[in-house]
Amino acid sequence: MTDETTPAADTGETDDAADRLQEAQTIAYPSSYSGRQRKAPEHDPTVVVLFGATGDLSRRKLLCGLGYLAVSGLGPDIRVIGTSLDEMDDAQFREFARTAIDDVGARKLTPEQWAEFEPDLSYVNTTAGPEALARAVAEKERELGADKGVRVRRLFYLSVPPKAATTVIDTLAKAGLTEGSRVIMEKPFGEDLESALALNAEVHKTFREKQIFRIDHFLGKEAAQNILAFRFANGLFEPIWNRNFIDHVQIDIPESLGLDARAAFYEPTGAYKDMVVTHLFQVMAFVAMEPPTALEPRAISEEKNKVFRSLEPIHPDDVVRGQYSGYRQEKGVDPESDTETFIALKARIDNWRWAGVPFYLRTGKKLAQGMRIISIAFKEAPKSMFPAGSGIGQQGPDHLTFDLADESKVSLSFYGKRPGPGMRLEKLSMQFSTEETDRADDVLEAYERLILDAMHGDHTLFTTAEGIESLWERSIPLLDDPPPVKLYEPGSWGPNSIHQLIAPNAWRLPFERNWRD
Ligand code: BG6
Repeated sequence: MTDETTPAADTGETDDAADRLQEAQTIAYPSSYSGRQRKAPEHDPTVVVLFGATGDLSRRKLLCGLGYLAVSGLGPDIRVIGTSLDEMDDAQFREFARTAIDDVGARKLTPEQWAEFEPDLSYVNTTAGPEALARAVAEKERELGADKGVRVRRLFYLSVPPKAATTVIDTLAKAGLTEGSRVIMEKPFGEDLESALALNAEVHKTFREKQIFRIDHFLGKEAAQNILAFRFANGLFEPIWNRNFIDHVQIDIPESLGLDARAAFYEPTGAYKDMVVTHLFQVMAFVAMEPPTALEPRAISEEKNKVFRSLEPIHPDDVVRGQYSGYRQEKGVDPESDTETFIALKARIDNWRWAGVPFYLRTGKKLAQGMRIISIAFKEAPKSMFPAGSGIGQQGPDHLTFDLADESKVSLSFYGKRPGPGMRLEKLSMQFSTEETDRADDVLEAYERLILDAMHGDHTLFTTAEGIESLWERSIPLLDDPPPVKLYEPGSWGPNSIHQLIAPNAWRLPFERNWRD
């Protein structure tokens, strides 16, 4: 038995020797960057119980991801039990899943693949209570060979709001299903320090930290992991990855989409809690952290948490909150709503590597373009050698840019000589995209990757209670005294004051030069 089978006598993240041994043995299959593959991948068949099975995330990402893992052979043999408050039977749930995959799934299943996946799906109404759920799980465990001595895992995916999460956990405890199980929890992990502490304490009554997988899907993006490879697998970049060479960093995730049908979630949440505390700060930690001692969960979390502890409290003067015109007229939105649909801020990391290097973060809804970039601006060269009018420095500093889209693009821009007489300089770039490699089809969608890791018990790409709590703590000045929202036009890049926030620098987006096709 692993420690995951022991309920929460001791909570929090203190680890005992067994934890450490198990962690050392954890595999990161099929991770391309796994540092320690001491054990063959675990392929224990798994019963996945999907709470919130008819919700938006399940429809858009989870059912499709589970389908792909089931038919691709990447994951173990699975059975998926959907559960939600909607009245449905197995046939209706299967139909719901098929339509979801066909309509919005990033990958479509062929008719043969669907025929293979369909019988793996079943449904239990949440209102049927803990016993009904326990019976359904037991039946699926038998199908997977539990009564013949096969070790069958349980994975609970809580695709439900935080308030419902504690009710679900209570149901799982009452159903006697928690032993030996793993639980994936969706953000938001609280809405401030107090509620995050309360939520973590509540969850720890039933699950040990080792059983909990707090998902931040940005860390499952191929391109986010590529930041680690890029920084720590090459001798070229790490020596200049500090305040002596880097002028500032931008993490810019504008979205062109609006609210869809998510007003009930978005209205009390807003852009800071929806995107910054979770995704943007997590990605920032990958950019800013010190080299971990090993590519394993403990070492990575330790370095990320050090970044969060060095983060200076977010001061309202360093923040621009925006709201798109027309937001207050959206269905389900308070006509006097102060919720921000846009946020831009200046963050500072007060440590030896980053002191004096601002990190500019921006994200928002209904902006001019949907993009996800990280841009590292290097300090400029002295211009003395080049004649006036040569063009040096006129197109901004040298940049290293990561695009977090699935193509995992990276570009390094620099000044070079324009061909012809004289010495005219212009910005050139070297670009890479996973699309150009013959491995493009191997890219896993973020949720596929993270669900697979959770099935294998690998915490490397998941966030920790400690990390989240320190981010909420750093957020106190902003949450206590948020600046008023400024209106912006849908299709713009946010309120005008974003330019003052970043001056004398400038936002990289919109790009002056496009990515190469
Ligand atoms: C989600 C947020 O976590 O991430 C959404 O709740 C946002 O508001 C989404 O649109 C962005 O994710 P992706 O992978 O589409 O960039």
